[in-house]
Amino acid sequence: MPCSVCSFIHRLFQSPQTISVKMISFCLCCALTLIFASGCSKKKPPSFIESEKAISLIPEVREAISSELTEIFGTVSNPQAPDWLPIERGGIQGTIKEIKSQDRQGRTTSLTIKLKEPFTEIKVGDIIEVHIASKKVDTTKQVSILSFEKKTGILTLAEPLTKSVIAGTKCILNPNSNLIAGQQLYYYYCLKCHAVTGDGKGPQASILKPKPRDFRLGLIKYTSTKPNIKASSKDLHKLLKSGIAGTGMPAFQLLGNHEIATLVEYTKYLSMRGEIERGLCIEAEIDFTQSLLDEELSHAKSAQQKKEVQKEFQEEIQDFLKSDFPEIVQEISLSVAESWIKADDPENVLMPTVKQTNPLGPSQANPDVSSLANGKMLYLSTSAQCVSCHGKTGKGDGDQTTQFQKRPDGTKYEKVGLHDTWGLPVTPRDLTYGVFCGGREPIDLFRRISAGVKGTPMPAFGGKGLNDEQIWDLVNYIYYLGGEYPNAKP
Ligand code: HEC
Ligand code: HEC
Repeated sequence: MPCSVCSFIHRLFQSPQTISVKMISFCLCCALTLIFASGCSKKKPPSFIESEKAISLIPEVREAISSELTEIFGTVSNPQAPDWLPIERGGIQGTIKEIKSQDRQGRTTSLTIKLKEPFTEIKVGDIIEVHIASKKVDTTKQVSILSFEKKTGILTLAEPLTKSVIAGTKCILNPNSNLIAGQQLYYYYCLKCHAVTGDGKGPQASILKPKPRDFRLGLIKYTSTKPNIKASSKDLHKLLKSGIAGTGMPAFQLLGNHEIATLVEYTKYLSMRGEIERGLCIEAEIDFTQSLLDEELSHAKSAQQKKEVQKEFQEEIQDFLKSDFPEIVQEISLSVAESWIKADDPENVLMPTVKQTNPLGPSQANPDVSSLANGKMLYLSTSAQCVSCHGKTGKGDGDQTTQFQKRPDGTKYEKVGLHDTWGLPVTPRDLTYGVFCGGREPIDLFRRISAGVKGTPMPAFGGKGLNDEQIWDLVNYIYYLGGEYPNAKP
C-alpha cells in the first residue's frame, strides 16, 4: 500500500494541475495514509489459541469444544472459574439486603447488599454476581454498578435483574478479582515466555533451553507431592519465589505473597483450561478428525456417494454432540478438578519415614559401610540404573543419552537421547555441577529421587526398589558428586 501511495504522489506532481490543487490533493493523500496506518497498527486484543489437537478436528466438534471452554473459563478479557474448580477466583461474598427499586416488569434496578467484609469499598463499574436459583438449573448473572450512594448504600445497576432476585439472594462483589489481578501480573511478568494460553510459546521461548513450560498438560516437574500427584499451591508459590536454577525461569523474589498467590491461581487456571481442552480433544479425535473424514471421502467413488458419506458423518457428529459430549465434558472436568484438589491435600505431601543420614556416618540401610559408600554402590548398581542416564561419573552422559528412544506409541523420536512428556529433548542432570532445578535442600533431593521428576524420564524410585534409608544415602552421594565433602573417599 505505501508503494501505491508513492506512485500516486509522483503522478500527482507531474500532472498539469495548479500548485494549490496539487497541495490540497497531497495533504488529503497524507491524511488518508495516516488514517490507514493507524488503523492497521491497532493491536488485536489477545485471545486463547486452540491446541494443535483441536485444530485437527471437524469444525463442528472444534466449535463445541471451544464454546464449552468459554462457558467454563470465560474469555481472555473476562476470565472466570466455576465454583467446582479448585481456583480461588476472588470476590467478596454477601447477600442482597433490600430491593430498593424495580422497573415496570418487576425487575430489580437498585438494591442494597450486605458483604461478609463490611468495610469493602464499592466503586462505580464494580461487578455484582447474583446467584439465581430456579427449578431447572441454578445460574448466575453478572451486572455492573452504574452508581453508588455512599450514605444510603444504594447501588443502581447497569441492567435490571430478574424477578426471582429477592432479599437474601446470595451475591458476590467483583467475583473474579483474583483471576483478573493474576492475569495482569501474568501479562507483565510471564507472557513473554509462557504466552497467552500458557502453551510456553512466548516470543522469548525460541532462545531458551529448556523451553518455558507448556502448562496445558497440567504437569509440573518439581513438586513436594507423591508420584502421580500434581503440584500443590504451596509448591507453585515456592517455585515462583525461587525460580528454577540453571534455566530461564526467573525468581520473582520481590513480588509480595498476595501477588504470588494470584499468579499461582492464574497458572492453575491456564493449566486446568488446557487439560480440559486436551481431554475433550483426545475423546473427539477417535472419530472426528478432518483427516478421518477426508479418508472416508477418498474411498467414495461417485459424487452421490461422497454426499452420503458427508451426510452420515454429519449425523454422527450431531449424535455425539447431543448424547456423549455433555457427559464427557462433565467427566473430564471433574477428574481435572479432583486431581488439583488432591494435590493440596497434606496427605499427599511426600515425607521421608526416616531422618536424613549423616553423610559421613554409617548408612542406615547398610550399617557396615558409610552412607556415602552405600550411596555410591547404589548409584553404580544395575538395579537403580542411575548410570544408564547420568553416567558413571555423574556427567549426565549415560548410554541412554546416545540411543534413539521410543515414543509412547512405539515410534522412534527423530533426535537421539531422552525426551519428556511434552515431546521435547531432555538431558539427565549433570550432577557434578551441584545445580538442582527442584531446589538444593536435602528434602528436595530426597523427593526428586523418591517421586522422580514429573513428566520426564527421571523415574520415581520410592517404594519401587529403593527404601527411604537407601534414598538418603543416594542424596548424600549426589552432594558428593556435586563437590561437597571433598575429603571423603566413598
Ligand atoms: C524468561 C522466560 C520465563 C519467564 C519470564 C517466566 N518463565 Fe516460567 N519457566 C520458564 C522456563 C524456561 C521453564 C522450564 C524450566 C524447566 O523445564 O526446568 C519455566 C517453568 C515454569 C513452571 C513449571 C515449573 C515446574 O516445576 O515444572 C511454572 C509453573 C512457571 N514457569 C510459571 C511462571 C510464571 C507464573 C511466570 C511469571 C510470574 C513465569 N513462569 C515467568 C521460563 C520463564
Ligand atoms: C531413564 C533415565 C534416568 C534414570 C534411570 C535416572 N535419572 Fe535422574 N534424571 C534424569 C533426567 C532426564 C533428569 C532431568 C529432568 C529435568 O529436570 O528435566 C534427571 C534429574 C536428576 C536429578 C536432578 C534433580 C533436580 O532437582 O535438578 C537428580 C538428583 C537425579 N536425576 C538423580 C538420579 C538418581 C540418584 C538416579 C538413580 C537412583 C537417577 N537419577 C536415575 C534421568 C534419569
